[in-house]
Amino acid sequence: MPDLQATVDEIYAKLSPRLGEGKVADYIPQLAHVDPKRFGMAVVTVDGAVHKAGDCDVPFSIQSISKVFTLTLALGKHGETTWNRVGREPSGTAFNSIVQLEHEEGKPRNPFINAGAIAVSDLVLAGHTPREAIGEIVRFVRYLADDETIAIDPSVAKSEEATGYRNFALANFMRSFGKLDHPVEHVLGVYFHHCALAMTCTQLARSGLFLAASGRKPLTGHTVVSRQRARRINALMLTCGHYDGSGDFAYRVGLPGKSGVGGGILAVAPGRASVAVWSPGLNQNGNSLIGSLALEMLANRTGWSVF
Ligand code: DON
Repeated sequence: MPDLQATVDEIYAKLSPRLGEGKVADYIPQLAHVDPKRFGMAVVTVDGAVHKAGDCDVPFSIQSISKVFTLTLALGKHGETTWNRVGREPSGTAFNSIVQLEHEEGKPRNPFINAGAIAVSDLVLAGHTPREAIGEIVRFVRYLADDETIAIDPSVAKSEEATGYRNFALANFMRSFGKLDHPVEHVLGVYFHHCALAMTCTQLARSGLFLAASGRKPLTGHTVVSRQRARRINALMLTCGHYDGSGDFAYRVGLPGKSGVGGGILAVAPGRASVAVWSPGLNQNGNSLIGSLALEMLANRTGWSVF
């Protein structure tokens, strides 16, 4: 096993000349202002050691990575009936695609594409006002990361609310099939706010550690989810976490991962570590270009793989 800090430092040094490659997401106006040359990486091993590089303590918009946390909450509330509302198959289409919804009666393919995450927000809303549901999500992430400073960036939520025409279309379409229980505005209010969670790589890697540690927070001994559920969430991250780039990510990195359009990726090496990377430039599938490369290098050098 190589020295992890030296490995992370080496990855940062090797990738530094390439920072700025890829395209920063600009369909959410507030995200377009982010410096494309940012790069952060944090590796938290199951014994609690943290290895970091670059802008690992600068908060960024985690966007779709939050869908891992809302899925975990929905499964906690609704158990296996969650799968009546959302499937478990890779979509092979873009993260914001609407095409399958019509043929499949408003049931999204998986919880990580936008339509699926909107269905999950509807499940998290059950029995709550939107404000309470958003509060529950923030509290859950703070608990996972053991960090009370984690918060939502309201300017990002507002920016997406003002321009999220596609998400409104997806949600209205699902509602027309009777697949949402709550008003579209409430469901999307929850969705836009959890996507607007701002976290650092260090906080994000800490919050994903339960998925690397059989569902437990290894540092406190708390059980978050059962071992089986942790495995299943990891399985979904591997197969669906990078949209129509999931096969490529599995081939190159070999670890469950979830990307966000803010340029972050959370990856899980079961039994070993939780890893967060951030580099805002995206590839053609909307996944961090340099972030994927960093994870590929880390997996190569450590030998971490689920295969
Ligand atoms: O709904 C959206 O489009 C964004 N809030 C989240 C999309 C996203 O992060 C896709 N990831 N690569």
